[in-house]
This record gives sequence, C-alpha cells and structure tokens, in this order.
Amino acid sequence: QKEIEAPIIIIGSGYGGAVSALRLCEAGKKVLILEMGLNWEKSGIPFSNLLKPGKSAAWLRKKTIAPFMNLFNLTPFTGALDRLEFENINIWMGRGVGGGSLVNGGMAVTPKETYFKEVFPNLDATKFYDFYFPLARKELKVNVIDEQFLNDCPYYKFTRVGEEEAHKAGFKTMRVPNVYDFKYMEKEYKNEVPRSALNTEVIYGNNYGKNSLDKTYLKKALDTGNLEILDLHYVDNIKLNSDKTYTLNAQNINTSGDVVAEKVFHCKKLILAAGTMGTLKLLLRSNAMNDFPIGQKVGKNWGNNGNFMTGRNFVNPLHGGTGAQQSTIPVGGVDNWDDKEHPFFTEIAPLPMGMDVATALYLLINRVDKKGQVSYDKINKKIVLDWDKTNTEKMKENTDYFIKKMNKANGGTRAHLLFDNGFGANICYHPLGGCVLGEATNEYGKLKDHDNLYVLDGSLIPGTIGVNPFVTIVAISEYCIENLIKQNEFA
Ligand code: FDA
Repeated sequence: QKEIEAPIIIIGSGYGGAVSALRLCEAGKKVLILEMGLNWEKSGIPFSNLLKPGKSAAWLRKKTIAPFMNLFNLTPFTGALDRLEFENINIWMGRGVGGGSLVNGGMAVTPKETYFKEVFPNLDATKFYDFYFPLARKELKVNVIDEQFLNDCPYYKFTRVGEEEAHKAGFKTMRVPNVYDFKYMEKEYKNEVPRSALNTEVIYGNNYGKNSLDKTYLKKALDTGNLEILDLHYVDNIKLNSDKTYTLNAQNINTSGDVVAEKVFHCKKLILAAGTMGTLKLLLRSNAMNDFPIGQKVGKNWGNNGNFMTGRNFVNPLHGGTGAQQSTIPVGGVDNWDDKEHPFFTEIAPLPMGMDVATALYLLINRVDKKGQVSYDKINKKIVLDWDKTNTEKMKENTDYFIKKMNKANGGTRAHLLFDNGFGANICYHPLGGCVLGEATNEYGKLKDHDNLYVLDGSLIPGTIGVNPFVTIVAISEYCIENLIKQNEFA
C-alpha cells in the first residue's frame, strides 16, 4: 500500500475544486487534487457525440444514460457522464478532470438578486453582484450569442420557434449566456474549424468550443506550477486523526474500472469538492465507517433545484418542427419567475436527434418548497435520498400550467413518448445542498466540529437557486476561499 503526504488535498476537480485550487496556488500553496474521473485532455481520447456514443458516453456501463432513447451497447469505460439512481429521482453528473463542466450545457446564469437574497439572507448581496458574480463570469469566459447569427443559423431554429411560441402564449423570454465560445461556433458554421456544438457534442463532452474548467480555472492553477492532479483516484473514506490531520483511503483505478492500487493519503488540510452527491457520500460514509464527526446538519436541506423536464409534440403537420439540425448549446429561456402563482424559469432545450422529431424540450427550474434529505444506509453501503412526489408536486403543477398554455396558443400535445405522461419529474441535473453554508459549515465553508476540513461545492447551496447553478457555485467558492485564505486557514 502506497502512503502519500500532501499539505493540502482537494477531492474533486469540478467548480468548487477548481476555484479553490487556483486561489490557493496563486497564494503560493502546493495543492493536490484527487479526481476519480479521467484526465481527458491528457489521455488524448476524444469525446463522443450524441449520435455515436463511445468511450466518454457513460461511467462504466454497457448502455448509454442520456435522459431518453438509450439504444447503444458500450464497452464499460470511465466515461464523462454518470448517473445515480434513487427510487424517485435520477441524478446526472460529470466525471473527469473538470467535473460537471465537461458534460453540462454551459448555461451561465446569474440568479435573480431577490431570490439570491431569499436563499442566502446572511450574505452581502451587493458584494456578490458587484464583485463575485462578475469575477465568476470573467474567469469562466461567459459570452452571449450574436443575435444576427441566432436569427440566421438553421441550427437555432429550435430556439427561434421556442421563443415565438412562448411569446404567442404570453410568456417572457430571455437570452441565456454560455461558456461556449460563440465566435468559435460561427466559424464551425462556416466550416472553418472542426464542429462540436454543431456536431451534437455536449453531454458526453465537447472536443472544441466549450470553455470547460480544464481550459479556465484548472489551466490557470496548473500554470502556477503549484498544482498536481491525480486522475482515476477515487477516495473511498476519510479518517480524522488525533492530531487533527486527515487520512484518506483511495483507490487508483484503470479506465475499465479495475482497482490497480490501494493508496493512503495524509494531509493537514482537506477540501471536499466532490460535488453535492460525492461530498455527501464521503461525509456520511466516513461517519458510518470511521466515526467521522459531521454534526446534525449534514444531509439536510437538499434539493433538485426544481428540475423538471417536459416536452411537447407538434401534432399539426404544418407546424414545421424545430429543425433536423440543432446546436447542442441552449441560448433561450422562458422567464416566468415573477408570476406569484407559477414561478419558474425554463430552458428552451435542444433535442439533436439528427432528424426533425417535431418535439420541443424544456428543462424547468422551479422553487423547492419541500426539501429532501440524504442519509447513509450502513447495511447496503449506499446513500439514500428521502425524496418523493410530494417534493415535486408544485413543480408538476407549474409544468402542467406551462404546457397547457403553450399548447393552447400553438397547438401540440405533451410529449408522452419521452416521459411518463409527459412529466420528467425524476430527471435532475442540479443536485444542491445537504452541507449548507452557515448550517453544516461556518460562514465560509469550514465544516462544523472540524479545524481543517472545508466543503466547497454545490452542497453549500440550500437545494435551490432558481437558475442553472454553476455561476453561483463559482461565486460562493470564490467568496469562501478568499476569506479562508485571509483568515490564515492555510498558513
Ligand atoms: P462537480 O460535480 O462539477 O465536480 C465534482 C467532481 O468530484 C467530479 O469531477 C467527480 O468525478 C469528483 N468526485 C466525486 N466523488 C469523488 C471521490 N469520492 N473521489 C474523487 N473524486 C470524486 N449547470 C449550469 O449552471 N448550467 C448548465 O447548462 C448545466 N447543464 C448541465 C447538464 C448536465 C447533463 C449535467 C449533469 C449538469 C448540468 N449542470 C449545469 C449542473 C452543473 O454541471 C453542476 O451543478 C456542477 O458541475 C456542480 O459543481 P460542483 O463543483 O458542485 O461539482
């Protein structure tokens, strides 16, 4: 068994991990990231697209795990997209150096200030809107599509149709910023560069165009010379030692998922950035196995960010559909947040199937009126999620309202084929909470009952933020790590 010492270890290389790594490295600290997924860039293995799923399509499975229409047989490989399956909800997430940034739609949305204040009453909103959100957008390279390109490009027919229909139904729409480089996309369209978004690449990774974390925060952190990333290293559990240091039991796997080495890491300072579900699993499992102290609040105040997927089929043959060719990068949304009775935001989502399936797809984001809870089942050694249809009742009502209003104004039916009765209540891309800032942790993410352990990822956000979450995860992580460094936590 190999034993390795490092002063600061970060588990996970998604948003929280990448932000912490950069700021610590800039402050001259040596940082080691342990990431269970593959370093795709280093491996040289290309990402596959939606129409030809290959190695990157799924984490160690024989079948793809797209939200629907999974037809292909795969050779198990440490792919970029993974899914956790619970009784009433499936949760998707990214695996690899860059975490969720490798597989997500890149939608970079700043939450509404009023809702941010409601979710985080103890944070200084002015400071966030003047400094941390602009900082997050700058570092993530957020940009907006050119309106002329959007109007002219056949790959955005789905957005134009979606917006027209929404307006006809009396809804307000909004332009959605993204980290995908739209100047690159314009060149793709002219066939001047290899295609990515216009070649159905997204949830299995993008080979070009997308500013994922490996091209932004992690690249900058590596350029300092202070960061080392060990990929294919899965941390199984953590022990707190009597001198307040930590021991991590980890497994180094190969790309088929076989364990090639058991490793033990020791560190003085530990940052958990394994994503909401990964961090909760580590904390709850370590608690069950090693009496690891976690306090009463870990696992509480969890939510799906109001995620609710739905679709509409166009029955009218004269409708014209949403286009056979679709960009994978969403740029339009319906903003119904200010409607007191039916507050929601929905992405006008692409459905790039290689043919016009005459279906419009939407991922709604709702408020989360009733939160869930995550705990650990010691017998079956897995995390359990207390979440059922009572948690999504209001989300369903909003979705029903939206679809009915859209269909009334434009024709169409609920997409029964894609989802059970047209309602994808069990689809979650945005798990949040369970280790909430100021509840399970102190005001800057230090876990209660610990001197040297910090949580910096989506689990800090109490289950809801009203928009796609990564801009907020980055802003909160920037805020926490800046203050932790200022307080000499890593001296
Ligand atoms: P994140 O999940 O990014 O990173 C955690 C990392 O830790 C992963 O790389 C994981 O492999 C690693 N890890 C976990 N357990 C480990 C262990 N035990 N040992 C070692 N490593 C471990 N959001 C948004 O704002 N706009 C969007 O358009 C989208 N679209 C979207 C589409 C799809 C398909 C998905 C799945 C998700 C989105 N999201 C999104 C959500 C967004 O990607 C998500 O909220 C963030 O990636 C969460 O960031 P975190 O830093 O919390 O963890």
